[in-house]
Amino acid sequence: MASMLMVHMNPGQGETSYARNSSLQNAEQKRLKPLIEAAIVDFCTSTGTLLLTKMVVADLGCSSGPNAIALVSVAVETIHNHCLRFLQPPPEVCVLLNDLPGSDFNTVVKSLDTLRHSNCEPIVITGVLPGSFYERLFTSGSLHFVFSSNSLHWISKAPEDLTRNQITAYDIDEHIRLQRRPMVIEAYAQQFRKDFTRFLELRAKELIPGGRMVVSLAGRDSDVITPKFSHLWEFIAQNLSIMVLEGVIDKAKFDSFYLPVYEPSDKELREIIQDEGSFSITEMQVNEPPSGPDSALVVPSRFVNVIRAVFEPIIVLHFGQVMDEFVRTLERRWSLEGSLQDEHARNPRTTVAVSLRKA
Ligand SMILES: C[S@@+](CC[C@H](N)C(=O)[O-])C[C@H]1O[C@@H](n2cnc3c(N)ncnc32)[C@H](O)[C@@H]1O
Repeated sequence: MASMLMVHMNPGQGETSYARNSSLQNAEQKRLKPLIEAAIVDFCTSTGTLLLTKMVVADLGCSSGPNAIALVSVAVETIHNHCLRFLQPPPEVCVLLNDLPGSDFNTVVKSLDTLRHSNCEPIVITGVLPGSFYERLFTSGSLHFVFSSNSLHWISKAPEDLTRNQITAYDIDEHIRLQRRPMVIEAYAQQFRKDFTRFLELRAKELIPGGRMVVSLAGRDSDVITPKFSHLWEFIAQNLSIMVLEGVIDKAKFDSFYLPVYEPSDKELREIIQDEGSFSITEMQVNEPPSGPDSALVVPSRFVNVIRAVFEPIIVLHFGQVMDEFVRTLERRWSLEGSLQDEHARNPRTTVAVSLRKA
């Protein structure tokens, strides 16, 4: 597998870009708005805004396009409104956006410029921070608020237990695959546990005492993994396995592909947070995917574009230029009336949101 540092979403503003195909993720960000507002108001009330002359707000895994600044914009607006309400001068706000170095920071910088100039008050200073959120990103005790949406299900690397023992994530042989599935899922769960624990430890160092963190990630609504449920890595591998059988991609290449994504249940997440111990949980929500006729989930061509915008770079990095065929395979799968709806019924793409307070 290529280095995780090369991971990014489809760049730019074109038809297949993340910027144009992230409405589902944006719907999730809208759900975080009340959690962010509550965390900020609570923080400002308990600290007293008169004492706060400056605040540092960061979004981790911002990607590019309108979503990159969505959460930090909510934060800036909430800080401003809170100070207006209590007739206090607003603090200066420093907004920092992070993603992996391969991300489209040119587009991010343009969005930040819009944010900076659309606010006369408070003073907003902006910056970008390329790097992994599984490493130190900020100086100790320098952050007031950390946000992250739709990103923390990306783990830092392929599960070590699988790569070390050369166990494929998704064996083409169904019998072997089903036999190994519990072990593979456990290896993914262990890698997620290690990474999320590290994420909490690092952010605990970087946040001030009482600092807040609001994050959401792809998750599961149940601890029981049924045979019908497929994790995102299984879902992508299913499609790629059809391409192996059709001779479009090489089996050896397929066997060495581990999509570094894991969706934890709310229970798993709660346990990791409690075991790590630096944060208390203010609120946790498990959210169903956005439904309704406008949702990109119900229109096959739009849903395919959502998947393409997220997974194209990592698939192309490993397999080369196979994306048109990947898309055609997905479209064939959902060409039958109602088949996409069936897919979502089997695999509801749930998200878990959590609001945390640093002890
Ligand atoms: C689906 S996008 C989410 C973007 C945006 N936050 C949103 O809600 O639309 C996931 C982002 O997480 C980033 N990411 C994944 N692993 C990361 C890591 N270890 N450190 C920083 N960013 C990471 C990816 O590069 C990608 O831009």
